[in-house]
Amino acid sequence: MPRPPSLRTWYARHGRHDLAWRATRDRWFVLMSEVMLHQTQVPRVAAVWPEFSARFPAPAAMAAAGPAEVIRAWGRLGYPRRARHLHDTAVILARDGWPDDLRTLPGVGRYTAAAVLAQADDVDVPAVDVNIRRVAQRVSGRLLTDTEAEAATVTIGAPLRGRDRLLALMDVGAMVCRPREPDCPQCPLRQRCATTGVLAGEVRVRQARFEGSFRQRRGQVMARLREGPVPVGELDAEALAALEADGLARVSRGRARLP
Ligand code: ADE
Repeated sequence: MPRPPSLRTWYARHGRHDLAWRATRDRWFVLMSEVMLHQTQVPRVAAVWPEFSARFPAPAAMAAAGPAEVIRAWGRLGYPRRARHLHDTAVILARDGWPDDLRTLPGVGRYTAAAVLAQADDVDVPAVDVNIRRVAQRVSGRLLTDTEAEAATVTIGAPLRGRDRLLALMDVGAMVCRPREPDCPQCPLRQRCATTGVLAGEVRVRQARFEGSFRQRRGQVMARLREGPVPVGELDAEALAALEADGLARVSRGRARLP
């Protein structure tokens, strides 16, 4: 078998450079894309991206729009708590600017904070999401702790750093080192991969069944609220209470509405 291309060469040739959110180095857009992509697949985010990003081109625009409009614009991307968090983050950013530690922002965890710094500012921080973790573990041949996985991506990704390392490893994870049926012959990392296949004991993160779930019941209430105020008697009380607790619904004078 011929020698595989370097990760750099593979990424230059095969990376998903045309994804709309990769055309920007603006922190706000990078954050927005990472939040959307966290629990929603690339094609579904790509479908709403032009309209959503044009509507909220900066934190001040989203802060001024208010949560209800952001939740409506979020549409059917699912997990609308993300929309609420993004709005609340926009309010903070519009008022105070960017904090030193991005993890202080609502809904921003270790991965998202690192992914924004790496992509927008080309900071050389490792960012490990589920896909990159899978690549790191397979190449290493064992399950890794968070810190080990971060260190492994730096080694595996070298000499790439910062933004390119993150996106190259992400694309290897999405396109080659897939959860099932990895395409090892096409992999730029195959010569140093300890596994070449699926690692035993690897955890597959799967989204819970939607049909019949509480998430579905919440989604049904959200669909009604997006159309306008609804008498509470017409709604699933338990689902509504959960949405209220998450800041996604508000009840007054017997009617429920978006916040
Ligand atoms: N590009 C940048 N971040 C991404 C992500 N989380 N998923 C897919 N493509 C991306």
